[in-house]
Amino acid sequence: MKSDRQLVPDVVLKRHRRTASAGQILRRSRFGVFVGIALVIVFCLGAGWRFREPLFESVGSSCNSSADTNLADTQVSAPTVRNVLRETAPAVHFRDALRPDTKYITSWPSAGWTNDVMTYFNLIYLGLLTERAPIIPPFTPTHVLEKGSASEVDFGQVFDLPRMQRDMGIPIVEWSQVKNISADKQIDELGCWNVWEVSQDSEKHPRDSWIPQAYSLDISYTTAPKWVRFSGWNGGHWAHRHTSFWSLARLGFSDTRNQNLITPLPSPKHGVSLPPDEQLLCFDYLYYVGSQGGDEYDWDFAPAWRFVGKYAHFTPAIVDLANAYVKKAIGIPEDAPTPPYISIHVRHHDFKALCGSYTLQECYAPVSAYAKRVEEQKAKVLERTGVTVEHVVVTSDETDPDWWAEVFAHEGWVTPDHSQTMARYGAWYPVFIDAAIQAGGAAFLGTWSSTMSRLAARRVEDWQHGPTHMVRWGHPGADDEEYTL
Ligand SMILES: *[C@@H]1O[C@H](CO)[C@@H](O)[C@H](O)[C@H]1NC(C)=O
Ligand SMILES: *[C@@H]1O[C@H](CO)[C@@H](O)[C@H](O)[C@H]1NC(C)=O
Repeated sequence: MKSDRQLVPDVVLKRHRRTASAGQILRRSRFGVFVGIALVIVFCLGAGWRFREPLFESVGSSCNSSADTNLADTQVSAPTVRNVLRETAPAVHFRDALRPDTKYITSWPSAGWTNDVMTYFNLIYLGLLTERAPIIPPFTPTHVLEKGSASEVDFGQVFDLPRMQRDMGIPIVEWSQVKNISADKQIDELGCWNVWEVSQDSEKHPRDSWIPQAYSLDISYTTAPKWVRFSGWNGGHWAHRHTSFWSLARLGFSDTRNQNLITPLPSPKHGVSLPPDEQLLCFDYLYYVGSQGGDEYDWDFAPAWRFVGKYAHFTPAIVDLANAYVKKAIGIPEDAPTPPYISIHVRHHDFKALCGSYTLQECYAPVSAYAKRVEEQKAKVLERTGVTVEHVVVTSDETDPDWWAEVFAHEGWVTPDHSQTMARYGAWYPVFIDAAIQAGGAAFLGTWSSTMSRLAARRVEDWQHGPTHMVRWGHPGADDEEYTL
């Protein structure tokens, strides 16, 4: 769960926030509305494209404003997503699986699990903008898991891909459906854009990933033009290392692609120099991408969440497991309905690097800060839904037994028992189950600046219509202070 997110801004943001005037905040929120409207238009244009050159047999649209705008009355039959792969898929050479009349987009993971999830949402969103079918790599065990103790896991093993494709009305395919690497691994050459080298200053090479090696892809990178990068503060957003969705999307179209061709780096295996592929648009790394700045999953307007992430529900199998773990922790029978609970994600571990001169005790939010927020959230849920929430399910990477004793001293607070999870389901499952438990909360409390908390908050807001709060930390009393995003 090690986050690869830019961590320094927490301190910087705090200072910025304190000095933000009401006017600035208002301007920012107006800007958010403007961006939101622009993106809805963009998305609807995308839907228009789907009608002209359908990737589906039939499709329903919520963008039809010509007549009936009552969405409840415009439910249409579920679209059948067109098969965008040839019958030969998965093929020994990936090109033999692709249809000549279809364009695709792909990229590679290179961080902990949550950040890779965000990266794939960004990839799928760029697929919408460029009218290309996304090819999603599996999740690779990097930060979270000891090397060798787990293997790759397909996106569709965690997220309900049939539902996602149906709800979004677009095809999404996985690398495992495209290239068969189970027997005779054939090397495929591919030209991709190197975005990493121009989006930050310290590393003079494309971003590394395990996937090209796992899929025997021999990649020749072309360095992207400098203008794909945001610089510094951008309308109040931290944009360090970030590139923009639309600048990257432009590279997927001939006019801009052809104007920006420079000598590609030779591929590592065959030493070939290939320009960026026109059928399979490919970028080294898409975590640091925003529409208008950085860290957009923190913001309600985040297009990659609203147009992609919110459609990525966990598979029914993972949701069932999460419910079973919650019921076991609470101590009720497995066949009973899951009672409403408040979910909490407390991330400590490597966040200690941000504590500066404070002791961990002073730096991390105390359990009492969470307890205070739990009472607030219970009151909000009661007010909104009339439901009294009695249970609190805490997920955390903290291992200190004294800290947990303090957690369990609160009535109704429990944690899922993962002592057998890895042995039973594999090394990935504690984090999958925790993420689904967090998403199932009637309300959610997260850790300020944790990307896992941020996605959980988005899920609870959109899927459970529950209130959320990111508990602040970094110095004593941090969560008691007033702040704005
Ligand atoms: C939009 O709605 C009108 C009226 O219901 C209908 O005739 C038309 O086919 C719809 N267009 C699309 C693209 O769904
Ligand atoms: C992949 O190739 C192997 C070896 O040729 C074959 O046994 C297997 O069925 C193929 N897998 C798929 C999904 O086509």
